[in-house]
Amino acid sequence: MIDVLVSEVGPRDGLQSVQRVMPTEAKHRWIAALAAAGLREIEVGSFVSPKLLPQMADCEDVVREARKIDGLTVLALAPNLKGAQRGLAAGVHKLSFPVSASREHSMRNIRMTPEQAVEQVRAACELCKGVAAVEVGISTAFGCSIEGAVSEDWVIQLAVSLVEAGAESVGLSDTAGVANPVQVKRMFARLQRELGDRAGAAHFHNTRGQGLANVVAALDAGVTTFDASQAGLGGCPYAPGATGNIVTEDLVSLLESMGLRTGVDLGRLLAAREILTEALPGEPLYGYVRTA
Ligand code: COA
Ligand code: ZN
Repeated sequence: MIDVLVSEVGPRDGLQSVQRVMPTEAKHRWIAALAAAGLREIEVGSFVSPKLLPQMADCEDVVREARKIDGLTVLALAPNLKGAQRGLAAGVHKLSFPVSASREHSMRNIRMTPEQAVEQVRAACELCKGVAAVEVGISTAFGCSIEGAVSEDWVIQLAVSLVEAGAESVGLSDTAGVANPVQVKRMFARLQRELGDRAGAAHFHNTRGQGLANVVAALDAGVTTFDASQAGLGGCPYAPGATGNIVTEDLVSLLESMGLRTGVDLGRLLAAREILTEALPGEPLYGYVRTA
């Protein structure tokens, strides 16, 4: 029994912004170690253009191997219908679509408008019906490092249209790490009012060090699923200045200290970092609990 689901996105959001490519066999070992530490849902990669993101070219292999892990929900990102087709063929349990609220970020990131992205989600929901779940994280939902402020009304409107298009859940992502706790509490409270049980995860980057404060604010608003990256690997290659996700180890430590069960064993989670040290020598790794 857990109170909060920690969804590990390091193998996707983390690795997509690490310049070099992590060897596929190391990805297998890392994902297995994360699952053994108690993480029940892992975003293992993305089905995107391998020319644009070679770090994700092995996503089919990684999904197939992760599927062998009992009890693990294997999630992958897909930006369009083609990505969803690849994901289904590889056997994902869940697909996550990055629909941007910021028009400029949307064009740079997935080369389509937010409205076009909603139509891709609609088509993917049709395709995946009964086979895999489709969820959306609205990128730049709290502001954009290119466009600046993003209309909260527009974000909510986009969320409603995504549920109407068939998304199982719609969460909010602070892609650029600009969110503050007052805004987070207001936005997630509104999202839950509008979407009810379709309101999804909080996805925070820690660019300004406000990530864990935003977690507490989201908890106050009733959020029960949080994305995080082991060692804080992460950042969107298409959002200038966006750095890593909140650190999974620090998130688990915070939640457990608040009496919220995550099902994750912190010692085994910390041990999994060794695979990163060995597979990506010299890559900066973050997190306070590690040092403590
Ligand atoms: N997976 C693999 N290849 C894909 C693909 C996918 N999901 N979607 C399109 N392609 C291929 C097409 O087959 C085509 O290949 P070709 O050149 O051999 O004919 C090529 O990519 C261009 O296809 P097109 O439909 O015109 O896509 P695009 O050029 O408009 O690019 C994306 C759209 C979404 C594929 C591209 O912008 C992308 O992959 N972005 C990465 C997004 C990302 O990962 N951001 C960080 C996480 S949010
Ligand atoms: Zn992210």
